[in-house]
Amino acid sequence: MVQNFPNVRMRRLRSNQVMRDLLQEHTLSMNDLIYPIFVEEGLDDYAPVNSMPGIFRIPERRLDGAIKEFAAAGIRAVMTFGVSHNKDATGSDAMKRDGLLARMIKRAKDAVPEMMVISDTCFCEYTSHGHCGVLHGGEVQNDHTIENLGVQSVIAAEAGADMIAPSSMMDGQVWAIRKALDASGFINLPVMAYSSKFASAFYGPFRAAAGCDLEGDRKTYQMNPMNSREALRESEEDEAEGADILMVKPAMPYLDVLSQIKHRSLLPLAAYQVSGEYAMIKFAAAAGAIDEDRVVLESLGAIKRAGADLILTYFAMDVARSGF
Ligand code: PBG
Repeated sequence: MVQNFPNVRMRRLRSNQVMRDLLQEHTLSMNDLIYPIFVEEGLDDYAPVNSMPGIFRIPERRLDGAIKEFAAAGIRAVMTFGVSHNKDATGSDAMKRDGLLARMIKRAKDAVPEMMVISDTCFCEYTSHGHCGVLHGGEVQNDHTIENLGVQSVIAAEAGADMIAPSSMMDGQVWAIRKALDASGFINLPVMAYSSKFASAFYGPFRAAAGCDLEGDRKTYQMNPMNSREALRESEEDEAEGADILMVKPAMPYLDVLSQIKHRSLLPLAAYQVSGEYAMIKFAAAAGAIDEDRVVLESLGAIKRAGADLILTYFAMDVARSGF
């Protein structure tokens, strides 16, 4: 090993703030962030999500006001999740023109047309059993589900969605959605695939937020957290099926996966900092253990450094408000 000291002194380039700013390799801005929101039908007042301090279920009838508030704060894109009061075995409400999924997209777009509205495309918020598709004999039926995902995507597109984001981890979902969108004339509507979605315990707080009571687990469709080669295959497959953007979810515990995909694919790459990641930071900060603002920026910065072009994060409003 060659020793370069004392010629090389790394600290020369860290000597003052201007120098550090000039040499900073990655930056974060509101252009990178997507805010996931929960919209509940039949609700009068904002309902706090106890497992996610600072996050509220938004009453459907007050969504316009909420979207205007987000836009005024600097949010440019939201991802919509419905909290349904009309669940059934297939999640049929999400395939209806007057269902919650279609109504909330339309309401959000009507409130602020320039707000990008991305539709989380899945069935778990609309099924009585909480699985992401159609169940037969305790098994989620892949091919029936992707057909339904195609129907849901067209419903979302007709309601005004700017992007379709399939999150159910069914094989062929991107292909089925692309085919359905194209057949209905939505040839220019992009698909952001949750391509590497792990069967993660970090989704715990989300299930309370979205009102999803799951029977069993999602291990027959979401990925084993111990695998990364499998994530590369999932990403390649989604790319071949026509995905426009790939995603890794969760984010922080999977930065290695993010980095590997970044080096293998030329598609834009998103990362989802999920509910459990958010809750850990919020509760640790509330206990006085960490400085919340600094940890939030560090965590989002780390996700960008690892390769994310876009980040879905519940901290988007906090970041917007702090105007960093
Ligand atoms: C729906 C979906 C989930 C999340 C996003 N879309 C839940 C799940 O897969 O169980 C989790 C998001 C989060 O934890 O913040 N399939």
